Amino acid sequence: MAQTTQPTGSAGPLPGGLPKGFRSAEAGWPRLDRIPHPPRRIPLIGDVLGANARTPVQDSMDIGRRLGPVFRRKAFGKEIVFVWGARLAAELADEARFAKHVGLGVANLRPVAGDGLFTAYNHEPNWQLAHDILAPGFSREAMAGYHPLMLDVAGQLTARWDAAAAAGRAVDVPGDMTKLTLETISRTGFGHDFGSFERARPHPFVTAMVGTLSHAQRRNVLPPALAPVLLRRAERRNAADMAYLNSTVDGVVAARRAADASGARGDLLDRMLEVAHPGTGERLSPENIRRQVITFLVAGHETTSGALSFALHYLAAHPDVLARARDEVDRVWGAAETPAYEQVAKLRYVRRALDEALRLWPTAPAFAREALADTVLGGTHPMRRGAWALVLTMLLHRDPEAWGPRPEEFDPDRFAPAAVRSRPAHVFKPFGTGARACIGRQFALHEATLVLGLLLRRYDLVPDPGYRLRVVERLTLMPQGLRLRLVRRAG
Ligand code: HEM
Repeated sequence: MAQTTQPTGSAGPLPGGLPKGFRSAEAGWPRLDRIPHPPRRIPLIGDVLGANARTPVQDSMDIGRRLGPVFRRKAFGKEIVFVWGARLAAELADEARFAKHVGLGVANLRPVAGDGLFTAYNHEPNWQLAHDILAPGFSREAMAGYHPLMLDVAGQLTARWDAAAAAGRAVDVPGDMTKLTLETISRTGFGHDFGSFERARPHPFVTAMVGTLSHAQRRNVLPPALAPVLLRRAERRNAADMAYLNSTVDGVVAARRAADASGARGDLLDRMLEVAHPGTGERLSPENIRRQVITFLVAGHETTSGALSFALHYLAAHPDVLARARDEVDRVWGAAETPAYEQVAKLRYVRRALDEALRLWPTAPAFAREALADTVLGGTHPMRRGAWALVLTMLLHRDPEAWGPRPEEFDPDRFAPAAVRSRPAHVFKPFGTGARACIGRQFALHEATLVLGLLLRRYDLVPDPGYRLRVVERLTLMPQGLRLRLVRRAG
């Protein structure tokens, strides 16, 4: 079986004899000839003509539209099968036949996130241990506890936006949403204040994180034989970024350990440090805690920031939707200065607008699934155990079979209850699927709905008429250069 790269640098088989590292499709898909690939494939090099290394996901989306619900791409000996058709994706969601595959960009993050929840292999004991210890940190009760802190951070954002509105200055939406979401996860989860809103530039933690994410993406698209040479300088920078992430996190953990027990908050960090597994009594090791803190700080803000930014873009561009959403906020929240916890989930239409933004631009745009045993996908494509495919969420979310004839249109009513009931299962997957789906889903939805409600109530959003949506990729998606002008509403 081909094994061209070894992201962790520690080659070796997984339990059951599956090789670790990149597994090219030739080995796992015996009838690859049934799966189309782009024309003009060049021997040894692959499907690279016209490919844009900066936008691999949007590139794959264009190719997928031409080739159909399952297709393949090859670059420098690495062949990948992509799936986006609603019926095939529903099969891949079947946990009896498939599980998460840690490959490509996710595996490239192993040097920094190791066996943290997001990057752990399914068989690694630390996955179950950490999952069981940390899942209660996302219960309804825990979420209600985070709500006041979320409001505090949102208050920092609105203070900044009030000043911009008064000065007639446009705001940098993705930049400010990143400040907001980083502060929210760091303060709710870890009691740490990065002071993002007091800084003119992004916090160095964000710069280092963006560096590592972009680096992990770049490693996917370069020829493995040349990557070490081409990336020599980038590898050095990446090592420095990783060292910075580690030292920041070590500081956060050390501060908590130094605090006396009266400082206990019952947050994610307390759970990591203090809570034993309810069944086995086992605890997370210091090394694993470091991995988890980095994982949560990164996974807990980058994607939510993108989701909020896309939602604001679409709301500003659709005044009718915005007016309806704002009416709902005014009606549900009334004159209350700040909403109570229960009043956030009652913003049903705002939530639909958020879902619709996540449909068009799922900010984690793909996830990988591997076969648990030899199987046949869609009755046509045999897969050996361990063979895997990348589900292109962005195209799955635009499959006309599931979403109707105009899937590119922004229409929150697609998420009205009757419309949701009329669609097949497994066609909306912004948070992944199965046991390895996003543990922070409720956290992200509460935070984003709350912030959208607060912003709609407070400002008129004025888009720049010249702005055309451009999406930048660094494993996650973000609208590039999105700026809005704000007019403070009366009252
Ligand atoms: C809109 C925001 C978010 C989106 C779109 C998103 C998306 C995803 C997706 C697609 C996965 C599965 C990846 C895979 O199958 O390889 C995932 C997993 C994960 N997410 Fe999120 N996420 C979001 C917010 C959050 C937040 C707020 C947190 C933490 C507070 C978080 C923490 C995690 C973790 C730890 C995992 C790994 C879970 C596991 O494998 O056990 N995410 N997320």
